[in-house]
Amino acid sequence: MKIAVINFSGNVGKSTIARHLLLPRIPGADLIPIESLNADEGQGQALRGRQFGELQEYVQTVDNVVVDIGASNVEELMAQMQRYRGSHEDFDGFVVPTVPALKQQQDTIATLIELSRIGVPSTRLKLVFNMVEAGVKVDQAFDPLLAFLKQQPITKVNLNCRLGENEIYGRIKGTKTDLASLASDPTDYKALIVQAKGVNEKLALAQKLATRRLACGVVPELDACFAELELKS
Ligand SMILES: Nc1ncnc2c1ncn2[C@@H]1O[C@H](COP(=O)(O)OP(=O)(O)OP(=O)(O)O)[C@@H](O)[C@H]1O
Ligand SMILES: [Mg+2]
Repeated sequence: MKIAVINFSGNVGKSTIARHLLLPRIPGADLIPIESLNADEGQGQALRGRQFGELQEYVQTVDNVVVDIGASNVEELMAQMQRYRGSHEDFDGFVVPTVPALKQQQDTIATLIELSRIGVPSTRLKLVFNMVEAGVKVDQAFDPLLAFLKQQPITKVNLNCRLGENEIYGRIKGTKTDLASLASDPTDYKALIVQAKGVNEKLALAQKLATRRLACGVVPELDACFAELELKS
């Protein structure tokens, strides 16, 4: 399965979704971050948009890949995809994360229009409603975007493709930790906290315990969101 994660907007969770939602659930997939301005925590070679030719060739050589396209490269990449006619067909899906802020919803609309214009069929365009706060209804938070899609159904909407706002992503940012191993960490932190001598040591262990609890909560949410995406090769 070959997936591109894309949005003209920065900070919508492209890298987070590439790394924590998609990569662990596509067996054997490599993560390719296309970043120029932002340091990325992901592994793999970083390619610039203008090295699209190379990216295209690389994508032919692998069966499974998640390409995380940093906002600063999206425009260039879209232009290249337009130039190399049909190159979008290399991807089984374009995952477009979006967040409730109005500007990001507008950029998301622009992203969907552009992908549709270069020929990506609606079945391969997948919205992920990200950073939805607890208790907030997706259809209310994303009213501008959903109203547009009602007028122009360039992608099918699944309101269950959603991820809540969760501080776990911030906590593990910059580390190589994956959430599933964090969730299944068998360490008895409570026992260690009892044995720990100083307050600082106890606090450090308490933080690890809290992070594991957050991971345990978020993994099922990620599993459910991934299933709802119905990505097919
Ligand atoms: N569901 C979420 N809950 C809480 N924080 C989140 C969530 N998704 C992403 N974040 C945080 O939001 C910030 C932006 O996310 P991320 O880096 O994945 O965005 P991006 O779209 O890749 O940005 P860029 O275009 O700059 O590469 C990060 O600090 C990340 O930890
Ligand atoms: Mg990113």
